[in-house]
Amino acid sequence: MPWQQNKTPYSVWISEIMLQQTQVATVIPYYQRFMASFPAISDLANADEDTVLHHWTGLGYYARARNLHKAAKLIVSEHNGIFPAEIEQVIALPGIGRSTAGAILSLALNQHHPILDGNVKRVLARSYLIEGYNGLAKFDKALWHLSERLTPAKDTGFYTQAMMDLGATLCTRAKPKCELCPVQTSCLALASNQQVAFPQKKPKKQIPEKSTIMVIPKITTPTRNDVLMEKRPPVGIWGGLWCFHEVNSKDEITHLLEKLGLKAIDSHSAMQELTSFRHTFSHFHLDISPIVIDCKVIKSDKLAEVNLQEISEPTKQKWYDLHTNANVGLAASTKKLLDLLQANL
Ligand code: ADE
Ligand code: SF4
Repeated sequence: MPWQQNKTPYSVWISEIMLQQTQVATVIPYYQRFMASFPAISDLANADEDTVLHHWTGLGYYARARNLHKAAKLIVSEHNGIFPAEIEQVIALPGIGRSTAGAILSLALNQHHPILDGNVKRVLARSYLIEGYNGLAKFDKALWHLSERLTPAKDTGFYTQAMMDLGATLCTRAKPKCELCPVQTSCLALASNQQVAFPQKKPKKQIPEKSTIMVIPKITTPTRNDVLMEKRPPVGIWGGLWCFHEVNSKDEITHLLEKLGLKAIDSHSAMQELTSFRHTFSHFHLDISPIVIDCKVIKSDKLAEVNLQEISEPTKQKWYDLHTNANVGLAASTKKLLDLLQANL
């Protein structure tokens, strides 16, 4: 393979990133064009992003190319243009995780680091009959321990390449070629004829889709930009966290505002629908449609109650000034909305 000739951390880095989600045969011409255009890290750092992305056209997963470009600039600014040789510094670069960092340093510099990419996971899970599936914390942890234990301190680069090649050529997902495999005498999956059952398939949960409208009443004064939030009851989703009020349909908004002693101001732009987004819980998807409503107070006694933060127990209400920073528990989706509202002040 072209990336196995005159290996440097830079050339191994580029090839490993290309090989992450793309077949070897596809990668070869891309790798050759890329290295011809950007023979050194500084060439990549100095290129404009469009040029870098152009070299990626057809490879997909363009974040890989953007991260390569960003990382090259960082290597120039932080490491004098020399690819770092410390694994922590390599992992700190955008787009490089623990396994890719280990692969680069072991393949290019023969440093002693384990790797654990998809191919290696499959080989290890089969050889040692490790139960679980990719992404399951217990499974990944067990495999990292195995990989650490098995990776030799001597000739680590050969071992790393051999494990990758074994996974890519013999221990394939379907129809592994066990009769050609160098570890056939010790492989527990082969011994019990369970090769294709390992690693197990990630369970694809069919979870229901729900939707909700988040109502964000907003009162703007010369000094404040307040939005009304409520503290959720302690049980159920977002228990105890501060959220916006929810309704099931737009028809309910007026009633909700009335209950809160509020009214939308008389303007077409009083109601502003923000872009919907999905939040996925373990047991359902929630499509959230936020609506910001510029409001005025119609019943100050109600608002006084609101300010007392107690309309109905156990729910609590709070006007939150967007110029301040919340130091209370916020649901991830609430945080996202607050960040968006604050960015648009
Ligand atoms: N897949 C990812 N990296 C690889 C490499 N260096 N050799 C073969 N297959 C790979
Ligand atoms: Fe994979 Fe078969 Fe080799 Fe076991 S014997 S590691 S299942 S190719």
